[in-house]
Amino acid sequence: MLIHGLLLMDPDAPPAPGWIRVESGRIVEFELTGEAPPDIAPLIGGPGRLIIPGFIDAHTHPPQFDCIGCDGMPLLQWLETVIYPAETWWGRGAARALMRRALRDMLLQGTVGFAGYLTSHAQSAHDAIAAAKNSTHMRMLVGRVAMDRGAPDSHIVEDQWRAQRTPRTHVALPDDPDPRVDISINPRFAPTCSDELLAECGWAIEDRPDLWTQTHLAESIAECELVRSLFPDHAHYTAVYDRSGLLNLRTLLAHCVHLVREEWELIAERQSVVVHCPTANLFLNSGLFDLDTARSHDVRFALGSDVGAGPDVAMPRVARAMIETAKTRKSMGAGGRHVPTPAEAFRCITSGNADALGWSDCGRIAKGAWADLLILNIPESWHDEHLIGRLLYAWSPTLIEHRVIAGSLADPATI
Ligand code: GUN
Ligand code: ZN
Repeated sequence: MLIHGLLLMDPDAPPAPGWIRVESGRIVEFELTGEAPPDIAPLIGGPGRLIIPGFIDAHTHPPQFDCIGCDGMPLLQWLETVIYPAETWWGRGAARALMRRALRDMLLQGTVGFAGYLTSHAQSAHDAIAAAKNSTHMRMLVGRVAMDRGAPDSHIVEDQWRAQRTPRTHVALPDDPDPRVDISINPRFAPTCSDELLAECGWAIEDRPDLWTQTHLAESIAECELVRSLFPDHAHYTAVYDRSGLLNLRTLLAHCVHLVREEWELIAERQSVVVHCPTANLFLNSGLFDLDTARSHDVRFALGSDVGAGPDVAMPRVARAMIETAKTRKSMGAGGRHVPTPAEAFRCITSGNADALGWSDCGRIAKGAWADLLILNIPESWHDEHLIGRLLYAWSPTLIEHRVIAGSLADPATI
């Protein structure tokens, strides 16, 4: 396959005319030249088309795509009222259909890779991954959710039963030999995990150091108070995960809105990744993420949609909300100093998120990288110094003419 048009190599620089040659799913060659591309079929794109890396979402919940917009509740009440009932349906046989729906919605909006939570139902997790592999080659890091308390029985019995069986089955799903699928261990968050379950997750990581960990941390004040009462002998919330050995450079910590200095220092020391979910924080009224403090501690961070708390599947909308959150903190005099530029935010949802997930061969136009690309047909008037800002603020999936995933054209309608 040959793709030609204006290649966006770096969001801080104007796109340049050129072409990309794709073989076996990867970019094998690219050339920045105004000259006619080699005659290789199929040829897609065109002289005025903008070629960009597809978007990567560092935190989402495929079982929650039908929950978007259930407004008016803080986190803990929303989980109980909206999310646990919805995830029960996923566990009762809807997983395949709902997974396909989530993939379709993501692909429609230009997302080509994601880190996601399934539910605690192991069989449904297998079914969902099988359905995903049958319908798309999207890059993913997914895990069964581990939880054994503080939620309805149908969500916690599997880990309770596992704890009673000898030999115990592994808390994570089996490894997946697919180069586009990584498996993580997802203790949901401290309020739904006993000390023993968290310890077991830690042992699983010792056992298989290649495993990634995804969890939620300090999203709302009520959640932090609950954790203080459930784990009274820990210095702070982050220490609960650290004591079980869950913090390392393959750990994704979603939200981190209400952390104290010692927690930032610990996360920096462990080199874990904080996943900023600005649209979800606004929707659940959880608070405004403190990007300045994350930056001042040199903590790595990524961006996530956190659907269904986040109402936007589209990562350009999430990037925009990161900028808006920083602007709001600055105008409130809340100590906000740095407001990301559109180019910085765009980098977050492409190569930045890819790097945070350990996918250095995704999220960019580079030799050897996976060909996960979007071919956009944008208005001619957008070709100025505000191109990236326009893409984020005036985003619409109708701008996408073609989606290329692992070197093949992908159509959301066929998922
Ligand atoms: N904390 C624990 N579970 C969840 C979830 O599903 N969504 C969000 N936003 N926060 C959580
Ligand atoms: Zn989440």
